[in-house]
Amino acid sequence: MGVGREGISRRSFLRVAGAAAGTAALSGVARAAEETAADPSADKRPLKLGIIGTGWQGKVLMKNALKVPGIEFVAICDIVSTRMDQAQQVLTDGGREKAKTYADYHELLKDKNIQAVVIATPLHMHAPIAIDAFKAGFDVFCEKCMARTIDECKAMLTAKGDHMLQIGHHLRYHPIYHIAKARFIDSGLLGDRINNIHCAWNRNGAWRKAPEEGVQVPFGQWGFANPDELWNWRLYKKFSGGLMTELASHQLDVMNWYLGDQPPVAISGVGRIDNKDGRTIFDNVHLIYEYPSDVQMTYESITTNAFNPYGWEAYEMIQGNKGTLILTHLGNPLGTTSRMGYMFLEPGQSQALWMMTAPKVKFDTGNLRKEYTQAVVVGKPAAEGQIAGFKLSDLVDAEGKPTKETYELEFYDFKRAVLDRKEPFCNGEVGLKSAIPALLGYEAMEKQARLVVPEGITSLK
Ligand SMILES: NC(=O)c1ccc[n+]([C@@H]2O[C@H](COP(=O)([O-])OP(=O)(O)OC[C@H]3O[C@@H](n4cnc5c(N)ncnc54)[C@H](O)[C@@H]3O)[C@@H](O)[C@H]2O)c1
Repeated sequence: MGVGREGISRRSFLRVAGAAAGTAALSGVARAAEETAADPSADKRPLKLGIIGTGWQGKVLMKNALKVPGIEFVAICDIVSTRMDQAQQVLTDGGREKAKTYADYHELLKDKNIQAVVIATPLHMHAPIAIDAFKAGFDVFCEKCMARTIDECKAMLTAKGDHMLQIGHHLRYHPIYHIAKARFIDSGLLGDRINNIHCAWNRNGAWRKAPEEGVQVPFGQWGFANPDELWNWRLYKKFSGGLMTELASHQLDVMNWYLGDQPPVAISGVGRIDNKDGRTIFDNVHLIYEYPSDVQMTYESITTNAFNPYGWEAYEMIQGNKGTLILTHLGNPLGTTSRMGYMFLEPGQSQALWMMTAPKVKFDTGNLRKEYTQAVVVGKPAAEGQIAGFKLSDLVDAEGKPTKETYELEFYDFKRAVLDRKEPFCNGEVGLKSAIPALLGYEAMEKQARLVVPEGITSLK
């Protein structure tokens, strides 16, 4: 597969973006056309969930899912009993009944009270548990990254049959990413040509968790050789893709979405281990992704320096010939989490439309040239798009601050998927396409070569 020579015109960028994943990965704006006007928070129908894996993210998901009217957790499973105690605490703190507990997920899957299953285990268990859940007749919400290998992602899609599968790429449910796409890219404000993207997620810390004292775990049964492998599964290649599947996967997913959910055509990269503490996974990664139509994306993630001139830890920078869009979902240098996106106009461009688009702020750019010291903020949208049945304009306040958590919106979407048989916005096909750049990116760094992505890589055959 060759890379086009023309660069990507806005029209072809949009055509590519608009063709997004034929089945269900419609853009937020396209999706709006098919939505009803009903208020999703008025839907009180019950949905009884079982959750497998109640560590950090499992509890985050529970807290947010419980904000959705009708959602209850009736069964919880973890191989560590204290994790289940903590999950019970989430339920009682939320004024709910305690759930039935299971130390083995196979037993949870026999529970007749459950309508659907949530998976928030380490990555290597996503596919085996999801496939067993489908066989047991359940719809599945599975955390990102979809699975440890591309073959496992495909096995999940094959096993799923008519069941629903939603993958937890939560930035697909972040209003700022919907607003930014519609307002700055689809509108043409960023320019006629978008050739360059740079994303980063930098931290300063070993990413290592201290083991919980005195906890008994049946290690052998679940593939962990010792307690450290359980607590720090992210640092070991047999369980995880490290920074690529844990952090990069979020940003690669959004850029995939913006680029029409097409896989890159080639990937090169350099990976290294900076924390020499026995981990087997790169904790310093630099990659170049070549997407169709001459879009290059560079990506970096390191664990020894968290400096980021645009925001807290993570940012994505999309450069068109008329301007630059910077998105920072974790916060920004102005000290407010409400402003998560900026657009800087290239010198010499007409400011008329740009000025009307959203609030303009003084941006303390220090030594940057004068033209760049004012930026347009991704603020409240007029009436563009919907997420999980909510109007986008209702999901941000006047300051542009999101009014609902992404994780909450994910569960509004999952509820519709289960009860109304409506494909979730971030479904299994999206999950596979977003896993490809994360997993093949790691492979490219290991091979130390330019890895040409095979044509038809998304095919299940
Ligand atoms: N969407 C997001 O923003 C986000 C953020 C953090 C983590 N995650 C994802 O959530 C998942 C879990 O990450 P985490 O940070 O919660 O990790 P964690 O280590 O805190 O929690 C994982 C839990 O799974 C349990 N577990 C392990 N094997 C099990 C098995 N066979 N059966 C049942 N339970 C098992 C562990 O005991 C632990 O409690 C990962 O896929 C991760 O990528 C997503």
